[in-house]
Amino acid sequence: MTLQLEKGMSFKDYVETHESIKFFFTGGKGGVGKTIAAAGIATYFANQGMKVLIASLNPVHSLTSLFNQDLTGGVIKPVHGIDNLDAIEVDIRDRVEAYKKQLADRLRWFLKWADIPVKATEFIDIAATNPAFEESAMFDATIDIMLEQGAKYDKIVFDCAAVANAVRLLGLNKIYGLWLQRMIKSRQEALSLRVKLSFRKEKAMEEIKKDPMMADLLNLNERIKKASSILGDPTKTAFFFVTLPLALPISVVQRFIEMVKGFNIAIGGVIVNGVLRRDVAEKGTEYMRNKYEEQKHYLEIIKERLGPLVRAVIPLYEREIIGVDMVKQVADDLASWTPEKGLLL
Ligand SMILES: Nc1ncnc2c1ncn2[C@@H]1O[C@H](COP(=O)(O)OP(=O)(O)O)[C@@H](O)[C@H]1O
Ligand SMILES: [Mg+2]
Repeated sequence: MTLQLEKGMSFKDYVETHESIKFFFTGGKGGVGKTIAAAGIATYFANQGMKVLIASLNPVHSLTSLFNQDLTGGVIKPVHGIDNLDAIEVDIRDRVEAYKKQLADRLRWFLKWADIPVKATEFIDIAATNPAFEESAMFDATIDIMLEQGAKYDKIVFDCAAVANAVRLLGLNKIYGLWLQRMIKSRQEALSLRVKLSFRKEKAMEEIKKDPMMADLLNLNERIKKASSILGDPTKTAFFFVTLPLALPISVVQRFIEMVKGFNIAIGGVIVNGVLRRDVAEKGTEYMRNKYEEQKHYLEIIKERLGPLVRAVIPLYEREIIGVDMVKQVADDLASWTPEKGLLL
C-alpha cells in the first residue's frame, strides 16, 4: 500500500505554476509544524535565488530557536547560513499597549460627550483586558509588513498564529464594511446635527474636525480595504495548512479549508508533517510499529478528505528541528515530494 494520490500537484509544481504569489501563510493546530513549514517554504525560495523574508508574528517567537541564532529585537536580520533569507520577529507588545491607550482615550472622550456619569477608569480597565488586542495587533502588523516590505522581497512567508483570525476577519469584511459605512454615516449625521444646534458654529466645526471616533472609523475602513485587497487576492497570497497524521489536526485543517472557501483566498494546499518512515518503523520498537499502523489509518483519512490538496509530506525526523542544516533538510523534503510518491514514506 502506497496511499497513492489520484491527482493533485506537488508543492514545487504549485509554486512554479503560481509564480505571482508573494505572500505565504501556514495555518493549522498548535504544534503541528506551522513554524517549520514556514521556514521550509522560505528556505526553498531562498535556495532558488529569490529574496525572501520570514516574519514571525506570534506572541512567543520561535524563529530564534528554530534557526539557532539571535533573530530577536523586532528588526529584519539576515539568517546566517541561508543566502537570500532574512527574518524578523515582530514585537507586538508596543502595538498592544498603543491600542490600549488609544481605546482608553476614545472611551474617555466618548464618556465625556455622552455625559455618562461613570468612572471611566473602571470601564477602561475592563475593555483593555480584551484578548482581541493581541490578535488585532498581529493582524495589523501583518498588513504593515505586506505594505512596507512587499516591494523589497520576492517572497514573504508569515509564521502567524493569528492567521485564523485574519481569515475570519476577512470573512466578516463584508458585514463589517457595511456596518462601518453605516457607522460613518450616522457619525456624520450626528456631527452635522451638532453644528446645526450649536450657537457657536465655528467652535463646533473645530471640535468636529478633531473627532477621534470618526478618524478611527475611517482608518479602520481603510485598513480593512487594504487587507482584503491583498489577503483576498489569490494571485498574491496563498495559505498552506499543516497537519499531522492524527485525528484532531486533520479536522482543524478541514474546518480551516471550509472557512477559507467562502472567501476569495487561495488555498495553496495541505502539508502533511511528521510521517514516520517505514524503514525507521520496521527497525524500531513495537511502539513505533504500532504508531506506523496508526498513522496509516489517519493517512487514509487524509487521502480521502484532502487528497488532491496534499502538496508535500514531511517525514518525522529523529529529533526536533533546530539549526540551519535541519531547516534545509525540511526545505528539501518539502520540495522533493510528488503525488506519485503517495502519503507513506
Ligand atoms: N517532522 C518533524 N520531525 C521532528 N520534529 C518535528 C517535526 N515537525 C515539527 N517538529 C517539532 O515539533 C515542535 C513543533 O513544531 P512547530 O513548527 O514549532 O509547530 P507549530 O508552529 O505548529 O506550533 C518543534 O519542536 C519542532 O522541532
Ligand atoms: Mg509556531
